[in-house]
Amino acid sequence: MSKIKNSSSKELITLANEVRKNAYAKYSNYAVGAAVLGKSGKIYTGVNVENAVYPLTLCAERVAIFKAVSEGEREFEAISVVTDNGGSPCGSCRQVLAEFGMDMIVYIADAKGNLLEETTVEKLLPRAFGANDLP
Ligand code: THU
Repeated sequence: MSKIKNSSSKELITLANEVRKNAYAKYSNYAVGAAVLGKSGKIYTGVNVENAVYPLTLCAERVAIFKAVSEGEREFEAISVVTDNGGSPCGSCRQVLAEFGMDMIVYIADAKGNLLEETTVEKLLPRAFGANDLP
């Protein structure tokens, strides 16, 4: 059972899907949208932003989280990730999500708005390196 209301998961998926139109994905043509719900109740969206220097690309999930953190948000309930085919968050994004809470819910959905998987950061990145690993 989700800790957040069903309506919230739908809203997060809808917002992530809508914002995909802003994806800057001219090299891969793979548009990704994300929407993260902060503990304050505010939702922040993000898209992937690619670069001619390919490794500089930033994923949608990290853009959403960094936008939120830069607005003062520090704790999160859930994040949605929407792609054409229901792709799963990459390893770098999992590590960034882990920084802000292993119990964050992750909704993975496709462009039709189908929720393909509801999981958590803990499940996506078990035994993540974190603040407690640093002396
Ligand atoms: N991408 C994301 O935005 N999030 C992920 O978790 C996986 C990959 C983006 C990066 C790049 O712009 C495109 O998808 C193809 O890798």
